[in-house]
Amino acid sequence: MAHPLVAANWKMNTTLTEAEALVRAEMAELGALDGLDVVLCPPFVSLGRVAGLVKGTRLHVGAQNLHWENEGAFTGEVSADMLRHLCKYVIVGHSERRQLFGETDEMVSRKVKAALAADLIPILCVGEVLEEREQGRAIEVVTTQVRAALEGVASTDRVVVAYEPVWAIGTGLAADGAAAEEMCGLARQLVAEAQGEGAAKYTPILYGGSVNPDNISQYVGQPNVDGALVGGASLKPDQFVAIARATAEARVA
Ligand code: 13P
Repeated sequence: MAHPLVAANWKMNTTLTEAEALVRAEMAELGALDGLDVVLCPPFVSLGRVAGLVKGTRLHVGAQNLHWENEGAFTGEVSADMLRHLCKYVIVGHSERRQLFGETDEMVSRKVKAALAADLIPILCVGEVLEEREQGRAIEVVTTQVRAALEGVASTDRVVVAYEPVWAIGTGLAADGAAAEEMCGLARQLVAEAQGEGAAKYTPILYGGSVNPDNISQYVGQPNVDGALVGGASLKPDQFVAIARATAEARVA
């Protein structure tokens, strides 16, 4: 079974001071949860501070993006080499990056490779927009995204896949448990296709999109949903701790 994992995507929220306060408000309770990986993904400018705060605890840190080149004339960008000293995970291909910043499947694929080359674990985000779901194309879209991102990835490379239907992000319109299971199951099959059955079994597959303490159980109660990628609720310590605790209760034997 894959290790359960809950990741907090703070997006473009929190100043350095607010980031520190958020970590301090939840780190003791999160750190006490056995058998669950918790990943906090603050904005770049707070990575160092958050990494320092959680050092020596069970908590992990992740970045929200990276560039695929390691250095050079790319004003405003941050490379895997810079991140590897600060964090263990990096979110790649979030739908906001794809939709608002023009990230293509090819760019996402290069970012995944860059992360892996630096021993970072990519949290690969995939998911269809509402129109694609309504046209019955969700499976096709997610299949294309995962295949493109994982092409050429070795069986020993560690990745996390997050299925985040775009229509469910920040809308309160969360997918139901059965839909999440169907798409997370598909993601696992696609990981198996790219990296083999053995790797797929141990790859955490997450659901994301309007996850909150009231609906988390319907996701992590599914066989193929190993945890959640949480946006809005991750900025509220009580809610994020409740989500993490429910995940640990559902999935840690
Ligand atoms: P919300 O939980 O705010 O819907 O955001 C989900 C998300 O985009 C996490 O990456």
